[in-house]
Amino acid sequence: MKASTLFLTCAAAPALAHPGMDRVIAEIQARDDFVLNARSDILLGDLLNGILTAVGQTIKNILTLATSAIDQGTSAAYTPPGALGSAACKKDPLCVWYYVANDMWGDFADANGCTNLGRGAIRLGFHDAAAWDVSSSYGGADGSILLTDELSRSENRGLEEIGAQTKTYYSTYNPYGAGMADIIQLGALVGTVACPGGPRIRAFAGRKDNARAAPPGKLPLPSMDAPTLISLFAQKTFTASDLVALVGAHTAARQRFVDPSRAGAALDSDPQIWDASFYGETLTGNNQTFFILHSDKALATYTTTTAQWKAFAGAGGQGLWSPAYAQAYFRMSMLGVNNLNQLTEITKILPSR
Ligand code: HEM
Repeated sequence: MKASTLFLTCAAAPALAHPGMDRVIAEIQARDDFVLNARSDILLGDLLNGILTAVGQTIKNILTLATSAIDQGTSAAYTPPGALGSAACKKDPLCVWYYVANDMWGDFADANGCTNLGRGAIRLGFHDAAAWDVSSSYGGADGSILLTDELSRSENRGLEEIGAQTKTYYSTYNPYGAGMADIIQLGALVGTVACPGGPRIRAFAGRKDNARAAPPGKLPLPSMDAPTLISLFAQKTFTASDLVALVGAHTAARQRFVDPSRAGAALDSDPQIWDASFYGETLTGNNQTFFILHSDKALATYTTTTAQWKAFAGAGGQGLWSPAYAQAYFRMSMLGVNNLNQLTEITKILPSR
């Protein structure tokens, strides 16, 4: 069965996230390539009702693949105009984010690459944003994972340490205007660049926080098979190819709770580095040297996804995967956000190695 068909079965919910979402459903229904090797170019949130601002246009261009989601390095390095809390800093919307990112960098990066907290931040960004699909009227990248008791849900086990650290960032920087949803998504991007090889994904701030727990049952489980995962992600507007690119984040991952007897086992041979070796190692590995999730092995070997998986595993795979991941994660970071026309680009403050 096509993902779009599976998707439609689940999308027959009475309340849609956004009035424009009925168009999204029609678009997914009309696309045969949704399970094939193509990236999603579907619009999200308030952009479905109009592009009202320059930033709305920029986000539209990234979502529709007209512009890269990777910072092209044209941004001048950012120097804060003053100390945190100073009048000069308050006037500059990027300033507080410079201090947040700097603080994160000290926790997420060390001489070897990304740390446990850096890896945790990437997963935290995913788990906040992905608790949403087109049938949801709330949820998504809204900070609710830390503003409610969502962390106690079983699918969020392993996020305790980064959750506590991120709450500390929130209590330090919220008085200066930094919201939880943005802190979490910035953390995922800082965590990615903290891993050598990680793409500099363009960063935006201004999302609305939500103190309502996200709808349950929207996150993937490691026991799921490939068709179930493809369907689940199609409901979040991702193609099967996007999904293969996204799970590449397991290049920087350890497990603790899937098999507690192997707590701390990495999901590839070098979890501190952002490289495509995860794809080849998952495809051919035997779960002894490092830990292979059932869900990852399923995507590596399933008819619809194996060609994309092998392309990332093969020669030049990193060059293919990096922009595909950046594009898909950018989309992830915008799920459920309904004020995209009002965000501010803050890419300039992203640290680099
Ligand atoms: C098929 C969908 C996915 C499934 C079933 C899945 C499942 C898991 C599981 C079970 C763990 C280990 C948790 C633990 O025991 O501590 C894990 C770790 C991780 N996942 Fe995923 N994941 C998926 C997709 C993603 C995506 C899309 C991202 C990011 C964009 C991501 C990022 C991470 C990271 C960075 C870790 C390591 C966290 C750490 O080392 O603390 N995962 N994932």
